[in-house]
Amino acid sequence: MSPLSIASAAEVEHLLHDDLQAVEQEFARQSQSQVEVITEIGDYLLAGGGKRIRPLLLLLSAKSLGFDGESRIRMGAVVEMLHTATLVHDDIIDNATTRRGRPSTNAKWGNSKCVLAGDWLYMQSFQTALRERNFHVLDLLITLTQQMVEGELLQTEKLGHLINEEEYFDLIYRKTACLFKVSMQLGAALAGSEDVIEQRLGEYGRNLGIAFQIVDDVLDLTATTAKLGKPAASDLREGKATLAVIHALERGTGAERECIRTVLNDRGFDRVTHATILDILKRHGSIAYAMDAARAYAEAARQSIAEMPRSAAQRALLWVPGFVVNREN
Ligand code: IPE
Ligand code: IPE
Ligand code: MG
Ligand code: MG
Repeated sequence: MSPLSIASAAEVEHLLHDDLQAVEQEFARQSQSQVEVITEIGDYLLAGGGKRIRPLLLLLSAKSLGFDGESRIRMGAVVEMLHTATLVHDDIIDNATTRRGRPSTNAKWGNSKCVLAGDWLYMQSFQTALRERNFHVLDLLITLTQQMVEGELLQTEKLGHLINEEEYFDLIYRKTACLFKVSMQLGAALAGSEDVIEQRLGEYGRNLGIAFQIVDDVLDLTATTAKLGKPAASDLREGKATLAVIHALERGTGAERECIRTVLNDRGFDRVTHATILDILKRHGSIAYAMDAARAYAEAARQSIAEMPRSAAQRALLWVPGFVVNREN
């Protein structure tokens, strides 16, 4: 088989530039409310930027099937609005003060208003999706939202506890990979594709989303707040054991495991420093282990669409996994 031909970042940018700009405009239109504070929060979130990876996936999925209808823009805005709503709620739950390099919405407007603004954004995205008059689209979005909420709830219940890899993968599927999967499936649903094609694109999204969250979790351990635009080392401080930490817990000495447990229990680095934890992780190759897992999922994403017809969009989809694994924020 001939090697897969992968687009360059510049080609992807060229391919999607206009569509992504249209998605921005649609998001801006959709986040207008008669209640001023909602519009303010919506505008603030939109101006904060972000990678826009979910609409990118939806657009590429639709394009890879030759679909060019207007609803791709609306649905691109829908998945980004849904994502934004989860971030607003996630920052309240995590007590985060920074997001996308600026004060988080909860830090600026307080929890009460942000719970409501998040709810409003959820409903606005459903309202927009309703315009498709397509039950399958609604079914995908409702199941997705329940999975995401279940994921955040399960995570909250496990805070401070040691979880195993199986629990970790279940959690990150629900809280992150499911939206990647559904973004791809929605692109296929708009194109009216056969079930098997939708499944294949969904599989790509699921694998990519798992790689994405593993990398997010590694960056949380290794990168700086300045690079991330959100608080670094926050997972340990919140009592969250992520893949590298789970790996080290399974391999470390009694004393090393005790250090990790102390941080997870204390929800802070008062007794054991962040540097000590990083040393333990490095000693056991735990960061490398997590990155290898992310690369394997990224490759699985590529393989999920390897048999699809060659097109600019397919080549762009083959570029995304490398971007996800090599990103710095
Ligand atoms: C953050 O998602 C939440 C996770 C699933 C880790 P992104 O990293 O896509 O956030 P933005 O939209 O680019 O800020
Ligand atoms: C993201 O998980 C989950 C969401 C669905 C919002 P994180 O808690 O790791 O996200 P960040 O690191 O705050 O962006
Ligand atoms: Mg968070
Ligand atoms: Mg994170």
